[in-house]
Formats: sequence, C-alpha cells, structure tokens
Amino acid sequence: MKHVDMSVNLAGMVMKNPVVVASGTYGFGREFNEFYDISALGGICCKGLTLHPREGNPPPRIAETPSGILNSVGLQNPGVDGFIAHELPWLRQRDVKIIANISGNTPEEYGIMCEKLSDSGVDMIEVNVSCPNVKCGGLQYGTVPAMTAEVTEQAKKHAGNVPVMIKLSPNVTDITAIARAVEDAGADAVSLINTIRGMRIDVNTRRPILHMNTGGLSGPAVLPVAVRMVWEVANTVKIPILGMGGVAKAEDAAQMMLAGATAVAVGTACFADPFAPVKVRDGLEAIAAAQGLSRVGELTGGVRPW
Ligand SMILES: Cc1cc2nc3c(=O)[nH]c(=O)nc-3n(C[C@H](O)[C@H](O)[C@H](O)COP(=O)(O)O)c2cc1C
Repeated sequence: MKHVDMSVNLAGMVMKNPVVVASGTYGFGREFNEFYDISALGGICCKGLTLHPREGNPPPRIAETPSGILNSVGLQNPGVDGFIAHELPWLRQRDVKIIANISGNTPEEYGIMCEKLSDSGVDMIEVNVSCPNVKCGGLQYGTVPAMTAEVTEQAKKHAGNVPVMIKLSPNVTDITAIARAVEDAGADAVSLINTIRGMRIDVNTRRPILHMNTGGLSGPAVLPVAVRMVWEVANTVKIPILGMGGVAKAEDAAQMMLAGATAVAVGTACFADPFAPVKVRDGLEAIAAAQGLSRVGELTGGVRPW
C-alpha cells in the first residue's frame, strides 16, 4: 500500500490522523482504553463540561430510531474543576490531542470555563452553543448569529493561547449565517453538526419516549444532513472544519472531508462498536492510498460539484 501521511493541522493543532471522537459519546476515554490504546486516535472531544457538576436529565434519556438514536442525556458531567483535577491528568499521559467541550448558561460562564482551561494543558476548547441562554428565555445560543458571536468573543477573550472551536447547531434555517458570525467573532475553527431535534411517541401510553419529551437525533440517519451542512459552511468560511454527524465508516469520513472538513469525529457509532474510530482511521488511509494520495488532507474540499 502506498504510504499516506495521515497527519492534519486543525487550527494549529497537529494531529497524527484526522479521526477524533465526538463529545458525549466517548466519556473521557477511560472505558474505551480498556479495548485499545486511545492514542490510536488523532484527538478526543471530551464529554461536555459545565461550570458546576451536573446529574443530567431523568430517564428515559436514550431511545433508538431508524438508523440512529435520540438522546436527552442533559450534560451529566463532573464540572470543569472535576475534569481538570481527575480526568485531565490521566488523559495527558496518552498521546492524543485533548479537546475540552464546554456548555454555559451565560456568556460569562463560558468565559470563566475558558479561563480555567486556558492553562490546564488541553489542546483545544470546543464550545457547545446548543445551550439555552437563560437571560433570553431559553433560546439556544447557537440559533442566533449575534448570540453565538457573543459567546465566541467571550471564549476567545479568556482562552489564552488555546484555540477555540465553535460547535454549530443544525437546528437553524441557515447554518452559514451562524458560521460567518462565528468566524467574524474570531473563532479558530468550527465543528458541526450537533444533534438534530427530534421526538418519538409511545402510541399506547401516548407519552413521549424520552422523559424530556424531545431529544437530539444522531447516528447514520443524520449523515447526509451533516455532509450538506459541512459543504455549505466550507463554501462560506475560511477557518477549518471538524465534520461530524453519522460517521460510522471510512467512506462516511471521506465524504465529510471531500465536503470540506479538515478532520472528522465519530460519535454514536462508538456505542455500537467501540473500535469504530480506529476502523475509520484505517479505512481512510486505505481510501487515500487507493486514490494515489500522499496526504489524507488532499481529500479536504475535493468534492467536484455538478
Ligand atoms: C449520548 C450523546 C451525548 C452527547 N453529548 C454531547 C455533549 O456533551 N456536548 C456536545 O457538544 N455534543 C454532544 N453530543 C453530540 C455529538 O457530539 C455529535 O455532535 C452528534 O451526536 C452527531 O454525531 P454522531 O451522529 O456521530 O453521533 C452528544 C451526542 C450523543 C449521542
């Protein structure tokens, strides 16, 4: 097989390969490290952190759907201080880039978390803007360009030298408007997509299956939506993209890269097969080799639209 350089540079963060795992689907990596050495991956987006520890939402909070799952886990996590004290030291001993994922109730909370993470040793901060703005009646930050920009500015102001990546919500009319606002506000990268809001109902009890009534859809069902959004965003902004949403196989990851992603995250697929990200990495290398590429990065933006 032809040798392929698998390394990629995501906003200054150089990874040995473009495969990352998506926030909330891989914990902090400990359970998966029992199956294989997680330094096989380019990076790990950690479970979403909040300023204070959270128990998450009451069950049921995960439901299967055709080719996917709906979840309303609700950011169960040890809080940013707990992460820095108990998870980060272990993670830093692994040869893998560490991307901390944060969620806040106010722009100030995002700023405080970035400040705490700025000298903690994480390699990047991913800012989840699919969170309700408590000051604006619960409207999600990521659905209004000005609100997303405000969070981006706060994060950049407090993150020091750590690159800031904003994770875009697909639950919007025009994702390019949000991406543009985020780039203008100084973001170093964007990641997309987060889950798509959905609902299931038990016909006999007439109750929604999830306790929170609605949840976020992820898994193979969302792949075409995610590829389309990555393509649209890549045609709009110059900052690099971490593509995700339904990636389960190498061919899915290659589609994401051709659409314009520099790197790709595997999420829900990790639940069905803990080895999925490693298989995606190996398969991407094989695809690049079969196409005669010397660098996997040559796939990025390579789609030839009709
Ligand atoms: C159970 C579960 C928990 C998640 N938790 C988070 C989270 O804490 N923060 C976040 O930004 N995204 C979270 N996500 C969204 C994923 O990171 C990802 O954007 C989405 O699931 C699409 O990718 P996938 O189809 O490969 O899973 C979560 C998704 C799932 C399924």
